[in-house]
Amino acid sequence: MDSPYGLLAELTYACPLQCSYCSNPLALADYRDELSTQDWQRVITEAAELGVLQLHLSGGEPLQRRDIVELVQTASGLGLYTNLITSALGLSERRAEQLRQAGLDHVQISIQADEQELSDRIAGIRSFERKRDAARLVRRLGWPITLNVVLHRQNLDHIGGIIAMAEEMDADRIELANTQYYGWAGLNRSGLMPSRQQLEYAETVVREARERVGDRMEIIYVIPDYYSRYPKPCMDGWASRQFTITPNGDAFPCPAAQSLPLPRANVREHSVAWVWQESELFNQYRGTDWMPDPCRSCDRRELDFGGCRCQAFALTGDAARTDPVCHLSPDHALVESAVAQANDPSRPPRELLTPRTRSVDLHLRTATV
Ligand code: SF4
Ligand code: FES
Repeated sequence: MDSPYGLLAELTYACPLQCSYCSNPLALADYRDELSTQDWQRVITEAAELGVLQLHLSGGEPLQRRDIVELVQTASGLGLYTNLITSALGLSERRAEQLRQAGLDHVQISIQADEQELSDRIAGIRSFERKRDAARLVRRLGWPITLNVVLHRQNLDHIGGIIAMAEEMDADRIELANTQYYGWAGLNRSGLMPSRQQLEYAETVVREARERVGDRMEIIYVIPDYYSRYPKPCMDGWASRQFTITPNGDAFPCPAAQSLPLPRANVREHSVAWVWQESELFNQYRGTDWMPDPCRSCDRRELDFGGCRCQAFALTGDAARTDPVCHLSPDHALVESAVAQANDPSRPPRELLTPRTRSVDLHLRTATV
């Protein structure tokens, strides 16, 4: 078993935004009892001892934690590469400078679209201009900046404008990731899934943009796996390189595994090393021994690891089945029917549900900003 390379620390699920593609769990109330500053400092230290090199500070909105600067300080003191994944709401000049001094290495800002009205509608709150201001601030303070855009039926046609906006913001990198259907996004799948025509258009725009911008900006485009023949190698295999710790201390091999009916492993009760090496949860789908057919006898099993356990569970109720995205899966018809629905011109528009739990519903309040 290798050491983990990256830890995704989901510090809080409190968030000022209400995106319908949110991958946070539906039962947000289960995560109100958040780890303390000391808990997180211990966890970060244990993770570094285990071999973790990169710490991704995420949420919800990690800037909602008043101790974010302290946590960054701890991680950089241990030599970890620190990445803040944020909506940028709450990133005031003062806070940004504190984070800079604490040693934060990289900032990743989520944006929703290239136009204010659409962006604010998707985010469920006026935020477009604040995000642009925050991106300028990040640039001014000399951080590398990645823009992260979740793509879906509502914004995919804007992909050209989104790339142009990233160029204008002088981003180092833009990650254009089609929605993965977990959490709220799973609930809203029929309203979020793009049509084949939208995807073909997006792929052309991305290809042309890559030729135009060259090395000036890295453009990462993640295609939606529902339209692929093979599934994504989710997390590079279960518990192989990265793991996630949720606000209440539950540790998972991926950010969506809260939905799986598996025994919990919590860092309040166990060390990070025990969780990674010994826990049933982390060993459940490690390697290839757990695989059913057709994966068991497939020569791609070491390439895609049978796809995504969370997607298999969401679609079939059994996390050990072959990811139905795979065209060889006996459950592939489930994916084909969702794709057919997304391409049916007669289908009425779907209402999108959003997480209503804002920061005020959780016990940690916004820090001084
Ligand atoms: Fe991957 Fe399993 Fe499909 Fe083979 S059968 S391509 S291992 S998901
Ligand atoms: Fe959990 Fe893919 S998201 S295994």
